[in-house]
Amino acid sequence: MGFPTHRPRRLRQNETIRRMIRESSFSVDDLIYPMFVVHGSNIKKEIDAIPGNYHFSVDKLVEEVKEARDLGIPAIILFGLPERKDELGSEAYDPKGIVQQAVRAVKKEVSEIMVVTDVCMCEYTHHGHCGIMKNGYLQNDETLELFAKTTLSHADAGSDIVAPAGMIDGQIKTMRSALDEHGFHNTMIMSYAAKYASKLYDPFFKSGTESTVAFGDKKTHQMDVANAEEALREIALDIEEGADIVMVKPGLYFLDIVYRAKEKFGVPLAVYNVSGEYAMIKSAAHLERINEEEIKWEIMYSFKRAGADLILTYYAKELAKKI
Ligand code: PBG
Ligand code: ZN
Repeated sequence: MGFPTHRPRRLRQNETIRRMIRESSFSVDDLIYPMFVVHGSNIKKEIDAIPGNYHFSVDKLVEEVKEARDLGIPAIILFGLPERKDELGSEAYDPKGIVQQAVRAVKKEVSEIMVVTDVCMCEYTHHGHCGIMKNGYLQNDETLELFAKTTLSHADAGSDIVAPAGMIDGQIKTMRSALDEHGFHNTMIMSYAAKYASKLYDPFFKSGTESTVAFGDKKTHQMDVANAEEALREIALDIEEGADIVMVKPGLYFLDIVYRAKEKFGVPLAVYNVSGEYAMIKSAAHLERINEEEIKWEIMYSFKRAGADLILTYYAKELAKKI
């Protein structure tokens, strides 16, 4: 057997046959569009490190969400920039906080889009850490109380899916219990289940949320980039605690985790194509070193091939326009 009986190129001879035997598909249904909301009105200001993405005031955010909906994008994930950052990140769980305002406005005007809200303290604390710090160490159980309060304020505003981003032990269980105790049985949880302590988030917190840590790092809660088995244990725990969707983050250098998670658990799986991954492509494209238009599809197919169901990406709108 083998050549000349087998000629694999037969199945690649034109686009029609290639289309017919294509193994993975990528559609607008897979996209979650990350969006940043700020106080004020009539604001749409480009984020320099995440070009093509913006800080929106609530009024402008609603307009953008309508456009996303019209393009067929099924979901957005919201990140808020508070008026003031403080020790306990109090705007994160303020019923009148910026994310809560945004959720209310979006659900009122564009009710069919799924609103995901990021639950973490780091955008709201003045030191940029993900919760309560004591002697330079992130306090686990005290931070969980803030996560529960934040979760309830998001659910009350109408968030469809809460997404704990902290890698705090017990965050899913705490949030699920809080939601259930208050009758929010249908509010879903998408867990940042395997989130690595990666340098690929720099554009996000340097200019996306302006939440660079003032001291230390996030390595006592986010995962060591050398570990894979541990990611599977983290994901197993989150499923057990009640996560509806689990996420791997970052995406591109962590596709082994995406693949293994899908193989092992078979639950709805999201991957976060993070700010640094996006910024690298944008920068190389700016220098005309690569063809961004082609590469972004290559990236999306890599996620789909690995087994991701959902992709959080700053390319969401650009992709949706071309699908
Ligand atoms: C935490 C959060 C971060 C990102 C999403 N949610 C930053 C962090 O955990 O340090 C990063 C996303 C990106 O880089 O695109 N609220
Ligand atoms: Zn955080």
